[in-house]
Amino acid sequence: MKLFIGASEECDRKAALEIVNQIKEKPDSVIGLATGSTPVGMYQNLIRMNHAGEVSFFRVKTFNLDEYVGIPRAHPCSYYYFMQENLFRDIDIPADAVSLPNGNAPDLEEECRSYEEKIAESGGIDLQVLGIGHNGHIGFNEPNTPFDSVTHVVDLTESTIQANSRFFDSIDQVPRQALSMGIKTIMHARKILLIVKGADKADIIYKALRGPVTPEVPASILQLHPNVSVYVDNAAGVKL
Ligand code: GLP
Repeated sequence: MKLFIGASEECDRKAALEIVNQIKEKPDSVIGLATGSTPVGMYQNLIRMNHAGEVSFFRVKTFNLDEYVGIPRAHPCSYYYFMQENLFRDIDIPADAVSLPNGNAPDLEEECRSYEEKIAESGGIDLQVLGIGHNGHIGFNEPNTPFDSVTHVVDLTESTIQANSRFFDSIDQVPRQALSMGIKTIMHARKILLIVKGADKADIIYKALRGPVTPEVPASILQLHPNVSVYVDNAAGVKL
């Protein structure tokens, strides 16, 4: 595991460079993407480098980690909307090269199966971007999700609903369910990029990286992945 602790902007820049280098090495890379406030600065770096001609996403395919169940794609809190706003509309990626699980599919179980299949058909994820929830979740894999899980329907925990309510007008509007890649799906990625920011993540990143590997802390499984880079800002890194 490669661990970098430094200024938040440095984390954004270095993490973006890893993605750019991946795409330079393999222009048709399959990249797994994350939402949340954490990767926004890194996405801004990718947009800047794309505009500067330093990287092209024209042959890249992307798969997002997760999506809420039951809110329309056009809703400002959907992860589809988030990705359009924070990355896709500003880079040269073709519209049909981006995938997110469809939280409005008539049959959610079938949607999970076909998402997993689509990832496999693309050749698998070359590089997966991750953030971490306060309870150690990755994607929407809440504590005690089996390590062998693939894309599945998730009942969100109260703490996640609470944490994510900051993006909604009120907590009642936060969906109670989501679709998420499973832990096995994530661990199959050939490389993983975990970004962690803020003093409120100091305890959980310490547990995830230095504590036992346990389903109680889903991110702790990353200790067993052979190719992980972790970018932690100074505030989140105080215990490491
Ligand atoms: C959500 C997402 C996760 C993300 C987490 C942390 O629950 N499903 O993928 O890592 O929030 O979000 P933030 O980066 O805003 O702290």
